[in-house]
Amino acid sequence: MFLIVALIAVPHAWAMPPVPDTTAERAKPCLACHASEDRKNRDEYYPRLAGKPAGYLLNQMVHFRDGRRQHRAMSLLMENLSDAYLSELANYFALLPPLYSVGSTGAARAEKKPEPALIAQGDSARKIPACTACHGKEMLGVAPAVPGLLGLPADYLSAQFGAWKVGTRRAAAPDCMADIARQLSETEVNVIANWLATQPLPRDSRPAANLPAELPVRCGSVPLVKP
Ligand code: HEC
Ligand code: HEC
Repeated sequence: MFLIVALIAVPHAWAMPPVPDTTAERAKPCLACHASEDRKNRDEYYPRLAGKPAGYLLNQMVHFRDGRRQHRAMSLLMENLSDAYLSELANYFALLPPLYSVGSTGAARAEKKPEPALIAQGDSARKIPACTACHGKEMLGVAPAVPGLLGLPADYLSAQFGAWKVGTRRAAAPDCMADIARQLSETEVNVIANWLATQPLPRDSRPAANLPAELPVRCGSVPLVKP
């Protein structure tokens, strides 16, 4: 009798203390690659997630899961996760302040270079709009689906252009970034990537709430703004 009562009273006495099942716990393994503070001494490739627009982050996780973006580790991690679960992770990272600034480390000490003309002017002859027309004047992105371009490693940025060109990174049609990427030469991509990666990330690096005008070109991943 005593034994039965004891078992009922202390059912968890022999178990390990439970790990709380919160989004913060679920996000911990991600930080190994996406937020390491000792990043300077490691692979300078991983993109930051913190502070990026939630809709953008969710789209990318779904793309890795469903094969529209390719990276072995990321695809394996996203396998079998539901949209609802990924959406929670996306919201979690969107609200975190950016944890590091690429612009303040390593390559950033490079000498100051003038801004490439494509960034704020585009190239009307090739019908390429200015990057700022979609990514925001400060290039910090626009909620909910356009990412910021600052605070990302140059190698990561160039690799994305390469992936768009060969079709291993895709978004909902019309895929505006793939269309732009296909028009840029390798030299242009490298100049832009190096310039972006060496710009300091401002203290308040949250994406803009909305664009002052409509997108210059339609992008399938960006919800249409209602008039
Ligand atoms: C083993 C390292 C690693 C781990 C762990 C990892 N990631 Fe990634 N993640 C990457 C790499 C590398 C990329 C860039 C891949 C590419 O080149 O497209 C990436 C890209 C992403 C992107 C797209 C970023 C962008 O700006 O487009 C998102 C979103 C993302 N990861 C979310 C997560 C989440 C959420 C977790 C945890 C569940 C996670 N990652 C865990 C390595 C990792
Ligand atoms: C017509 C609007 C538009 C223009 C112009 C534009 N972008 Fe984009 N860009 C987007 C959208 C939308 C995405 C998100 C695509 C997705 O969901 O995969 C994106 C994504 C990106 C990414 C991926 C960021 C990451 O974290 O992986 C990079 C890099 C990028 N753009 C660079 C540029 C550069 C450089 C220019 C100028 C030469 C430019 N973009 C011009 C709309 C635009």
